[in-house]
Amino acid sequence: MIYPGELVQLVSPKGKRYLRTFNPDEALHTHEGKLDLGLLRETDFGDYIKTHLGKKYRVLKPTLHDLLKNIKRETQIIYPKDIGYILLKLSVGPGSRIIEFGSGSGSLTLALAWYAGSTGIVYSFERREKFMEICANNLARVGLQDNVQQINQDIEEGIDLHEMDCAFIDVRTPWECLDQVVQGVRNGAPVGFLLPTVNQVSALLESMDQGPFSDVEVVELMLRHYKPVSDRLRPEDRMVAHTGFLVFARLNKNMPEKE
Ligand SMILES: C[S@@+](CC[C@H](N)C(=O)[O-])C[C@H]1O[C@@H](n2cnc3c(N)ncnc32)[C@H](O)[C@@H]1O
Repeated sequence: MIYPGELVQLVSPKGKRYLRTFNPDEALHTHEGKLDLGLLRETDFGDYIKTHLGKKYRVLKPTLHDLLKNIKRETQIIYPKDIGYILLKLSVGPGSRIIEFGSGSGSLTLALAWYAGSTGIVYSFERREKFMEICANNLARVGLQDNVQQINQDIEEGIDLHEMDCAFIDVRTPWECLDQVVQGVRNGAPVGFLLPTVNQVSALLESMDQGPFSDVEVVELMLRHYKPVSDRLRPEDRMVAHTGFLVFARLNKNMPEKE
């Protein structure tokens, strides 16, 4: 049984995907006919419902990956391939208390909130009100708004947080907010950054070198999809060749002073 208000992914016979919040009074108009969403009441995830032309649509419970692919975006976002590694490097899990600089459209915020759960909290800073609203709508759509405290502020004005478990920074000039990172997380905590260009990575590394950071890692992740045809298995012709560089480190307040 699927209940009104639940998120549902409907998949057409040709694989086209529609993400909807279940409202039994609504219909989905497709090239294969009208899909009466009220039919979802008598359906379980994994089953099919039919359009008025008899075409079968599969009914799936959306995964976090599906939700991330469906967010409304007006900024550059962090992609699932990078988010997976970020979550592991920051050790995000139930109860995590997380700082995020640069909410943007909220792609990463959503994933952080999902894994931190109701016992954790994401403090997400964003200076542009418009993007804060987009992020808020994306969170509310999937019911994760209570796991996030959105703060409409320029990070450079300073933050009122201490002893957080980790931080992720996705702003254009992250080297200008390293003091806030150092203040905000507990000693030894993992911190991460995403930067689109190598010039930015160099500038960040130069600044981090002057601060209490150790275990610095710079990575770029590439994801190549294959055509799933068993007897002609080969990569897809096109791929997203670049999203951003990831930089990770640990806050190390016990580092000896640099000469
Ligand atoms: C690339 S977007 C972040 C995208 C986000 N990580 C996502 O996955 O959707 C960068 C955001 O940082 C915000 N930003 C940049 N500098 C900032 C600052 N100093 N204080 C607060 N927000 C800032 C921008 O307004 C922008 O929305």
